[in-house]
Amino acid sequence: MPFEQRIWEIFQRVYGRRPSIGIRSPGRINLLGEHTDYNGGPVLPAAIDRALWLAAAPRTDGRCRLWACDYEEGCVIEARPSARLAQPAWANYLLGVLVEMGWPGGMDIAFGGDLPIGAGVSSSAALENATALAADALFNLRYSRIDLVRIAHRAENAFVGVPCGIMDMFAGMMGRKDAFIHLDCQALAWEYLPFEAPDLAFVLCHSGVERRLATSEYGARRRECAQGLAVLQKLEPGLKNLSDATPALLEAAKHNIPQVVFRRCRYVLGEIARVAAAVEALRQNDYAALGALLYQTHAGLRDDFEVSCPELNFLVEQAARHPACSGARLMGAGFGGCTLNLVHQREAHDFIARVSEGYVSVFGRPLSAWIVRPDNGAEIVFRAN
Ligand code: GLA
Repeated sequence: MPFEQRIWEIFQRVYGRRPSIGIRSPGRINLLGEHTDYNGGPVLPAAIDRALWLAAAPRTDGRCRLWACDYEEGCVIEARPSARLAQPAWANYLLGVLVEMGWPGGMDIAFGGDLPIGAGVSSSAALENATALAADALFNLRYSRIDLVRIAHRAENAFVGVPCGIMDMFAGMMGRKDAFIHLDCQALAWEYLPFEAPDLAFVLCHSGVERRLATSEYGARRRECAQGLAVLQKLEPGLKNLSDATPALLEAAKHNIPQVVFRRCRYVLGEIARVAAAVEALRQNDYAALGALLYQTHAGLRDDFEVSCPELNFLVEQAARHPACSGARLMGAGFGGCTLNLVHQREAHDFIARVSEGYVSVFGRPLSAWIVRPDNGAEIVFRAN
């Protein structure tokens, strides 16, 4: 039975009524532009063909009943909460969005899907986007898609308390089939770049390492980037974001910046240049050049930004040994989660088998791997009249 069908049926079983609306809300990959979004820089993400499905129906009494199909766990919220819940933690992604929307009304909601959780493919943003889209439609709020992206982003920052950038929500909401989004996170201006390579596949290899440090170390990286920016602003007072700095300016400030902070900034400026090169490579269909950029980004994240771990480094080294792989890197915040691999389609299964074999033998832990492709962003898939 397709996933969505299962979610609609569970909704009916749990609540004894039919859903009024069904949403498909995908996860995302990011080709290049890591840790650049909160520095005002560019990113190159895409929504993918793995998604979370959410069924909802409005209520007239202002209560919210929520059900997580994959955990078989639910909760009832009587009225607009003033702070996040201690348990269940997943409820906060939905509640944060409804709070940011001004608590438009009560709802019954059930959700689940085939999007791996905690793997760094933005399952939380998918849940926020789905909630925003469902509430907007059910209560006829008429927000634009970009407004919904901003709402989902604020929900995660202010209500859930994770200081992430805007990339994940944007990619999940605005994705387009077989295209990457070239997004300027400062101006919130974007263009779609078609990915026209039917013989290439994207493979995600999940290290299975819990991203325990992700939140605390993510916050630390943000602070280090802000610290670097503050020093650069003394030399160039008009500078708004780290992404606006030139490598020459950073070099000029080298002796006034702590070494670690200097390396963080060097990574960010390098990554911005790599995004520009990747955009060119995509336009030229130059996938060898693109692959080389993925390896360079991994080295930067490992050595200068220091968000990798032995498992992710091993996965990238193993990938590089396979003749069908043209590029690989850790993807997302780091400290665990997935690597992104650009692989020849026909050999993708052999690639997965060989990398898995090496991974199990060294780390004694199985590898989960998925072949994904750029797909459309969040959408309403049915609406009862
Ligand atoms: C996480 C955050 C994003 C982004 C990436 C790193 O996925 O949610 O906003 O900062 O890390 O590029």
